[in-house]
Amino acid sequence: MKKFSNRSIVFVFLMVIATMTLQAQKAPQDMNRFIDNLMKKMTLEEKIGQLNLPVSGEITTGQAKSSDVAQKIRTGQVGGLFNLKGVEKIKDVQKLAVKESRLGIPLLFGMDVVHGYETVFPIPLGLACTWNMAAIQQSARIAATEASADGISWTFSPMVDISRDARWGRASEGSGEDPFLGGEIAKAMVKGYQGNSMANKNEIMACVKHFALYGAAEAGRDYNTVDMSRNRMYNEYLLPYKAAIEAGAGSVMVSFNEINGVPATANKWLLTELLRNQWGFNGFVVSDFTGISEMVNHGIGDLQTVSARALNAGTDMDMVSDGFIGTIKKSIQEGKVSEETVNTACRRILEAKYKLGLFDDPYKYCDVKRPAKEIYTPEHRAIARKIAAESFVLLKNEKNTLPLRKQGTIAVVGPLANTRSNMPGTWSVAARLDKSASLVEGLQEVLGKKANVVYAKGSNLMEDAAYEERATTFGRSLNRDNRTSKELLDEALKVSANADVIIAALGESSEMSGESSSRSNLDMPDVQRTLLKELLKTGKPVVLVLFTGRPVVLTWENEHVPAILNVWFGGSEAAYAISDVLFGDANPSGKLTMTFPQNVGQLPLYYSHKNTGRPLSEGHWFEKFRSNYLDVSNDPLYPFGYGLSYTTFKYSNVSLSSATMNSNGELTASVTVTNTGNREGSEVVQLYLRDLVGSITRPVKELKGFNKITLKAGESKEVSFKITPELLKFYNEDLQFVCEPGDFDVMIGGNSRDVETAHFTLNP
Ligand code: NOJ
Repeated sequence: MKKFSNRSIVFVFLMVIATMTLQAQKAPQDMNRFIDNLMKKMTLEEKIGQLNLPVSGEITTGQAKSSDVAQKIRTGQVGGLFNLKGVEKIKDVQKLAVKESRLGIPLLFGMDVVHGYETVFPIPLGLACTWNMAAIQQSARIAATEASADGISWTFSPMVDISRDARWGRASEGSGEDPFLGGEIAKAMVKGYQGNSMANKNEIMACVKHFALYGAAEAGRDYNTVDMSRNRMYNEYLLPYKAAIEAGAGSVMVSFNEINGVPATANKWLLTELLRNQWGFNGFVVSDFTGISEMVNHGIGDLQTVSARALNAGTDMDMVSDGFIGTIKKSIQEGKVSEETVNTACRRILEAKYKLGLFDDPYKYCDVKRPAKEIYTPEHRAIARKIAAESFVLLKNEKNTLPLRKQGTIAVVGPLANTRSNMPGTWSVAARLDKSASLVEGLQEVLGKKANVVYAKGSNLMEDAAYEERATTFGRSLNRDNRTSKELLDEALKVSANADVIIAALGESSEMSGESSSRSNLDMPDVQRTLLKELLKTGKPVVLVLFTGRPVVLTWENEHVPAILNVWFGGSEAAYAISDVLFGDANPSGKLTMTFPQNVGQLPLYYSHKNTGRPLSEGHWFEKFRSNYLDVSNDPLYPFGYGLSYTTFKYSNVSLSSATMNSNGELTASVTVTNTGNREGSEVVQLYLRDLVGSITRPVKELKGFNKITLKAGESKEVSFKITPELLKFYNEDLQFVCEPGDFDVMIGGNSRDVETAHFTLNP
């Protein structure tokens, strides 16, 4: 056996001591001692400086040393920067803070790493439609690996706002309408970003946003007013934020909206009573971009007043407003803010830096060798491609139009068919927009010589050039074609004339959803609808590949187009993933996490609505003096949880282990799911519950469990869900979290509409 030398024994011994020291340093009392010591040395100005998160746009390569922000960093007036890309640049700026400021406190570097970094995953709404928590967590893990390799220590994600109004463009950034599913996804994302402890070099801090209720903006108009009962908040909207916090999210971003008359940024009930006192959150709270100064427009005071209100309410860090560095000292002198409040906020931010290990090594995320090895790697891209395919939702597939055969001539037509920059989707700040293959390019690459792919644009995004410009910002131009609509159409018909099948790549551009992209009309834009009609008239099979960042109105398309595949915005690998699904190399399994309406007038529309005192009777869509519309049924076009596969599934034998349950007991609900088609496929088995009589009104159904299974052709599996009293709990009128004895419906199915039902009674 090889002998160990004395030197190697000493080396191992030293390593053990070093590891123990490092671990010991992580103990809370050490953190407190460290921060106590540091804060004793800090001036009031330096403490306020830690609360400042200015915009970093003016720092570009080579300028880092001369910009205004650089001067602020030197004088200790900056706690962090955001959306600065590139490890070299970040290292340079970190050096400024560490070497040139008086106390050398390292900066946080944040970024909107919302659905991937350079390897981009589907937009969050699409990602949610995978219902695959392991895949979602893995996407966040890869995002954290790539971002940290490029200098980022803090991501402004997950966005967990419940959205039930498809007019709101930011529905694209969240998980959809359901709190239970949203909570599960929030946890998976936080775990993915932060890993075990944020101690490792590839683990970064999560920031759950936008706290709170941002998705409930009136009329789906971004930044608009929110007015909501506490009951609804607790039962329907708050759960995903709470889940993220319980999973350990290190920070929280406040939302732009007001809540019941008080902007969230200055809402003490929200940020202190709920977040800290009730939920025990101990990280730090950052405002949204100019969230503090915008309160002047909200009409609650001048910059000094609103800054003081924000800090006193529990906002610790000011993103871009310059309200804290500009006015807090004065407010302290005037007795409007206490020094203690500044100390508390400053401590929270220093704690975050400590937990990230930045005091041990300020350059923890600045290893310039990492990007080449860890960003946009073939492994990451392969995973992103697989996840993208899993996010697509097959909405219609008449006569098995899909999958297509890899042969003949395939015409790809539409304004979304040949764009690289729109593939990653909205809020993909780090994406290399020129790198993602367009759909045409992806199809050509995948099909090679097997089939002939021909292309025509067919139409612009919409007739109105000014609208198109508004909808294609941030480098996502669709290169508007100056030919007339007729000329574009004629070209498309000519190109399609010899095709065996037409793929119509239509819908929204990526910037038609996302921030400040609310829409009041969700129909297929005018010229695209005309194009689609003309393509259908050729009599050839037409597949609509729908690009969208939100539920849109597809009533006409559903009636006339044989196959509709909703691909959202699938990320950097979307084109390949679309090919995989179109040609059957992957079997679609995505299920909607937001209801698709029949028309905009039905919005907000969601499956877990209340019954009202005047519900419709079974089998009717209109009855006078009932809760309905004269001109459209209450039904969605596609319900929550819906999505087809290239195979079919049958649900049978829904049964319960017992017809009653005691308040400390549990029961099991089971169902047999059979793959009745002729190929393997995955199915999301969904469990819904209804509390039939409550002390307050209860929704007609609520998702309480799901299980994604894969079945071979002809295979059956029994799927079981455990039902415990915990699962039956809700917030009652006094906001106590209780379950009430009585009767419950248990519904299991492949979407929220088509379910098999059983019943049980919860004993007193
Ligand atoms: C505004 C957005 O609301 C928020 O989601 C984002 O994180 C910040 N800007 C920073 O870019």
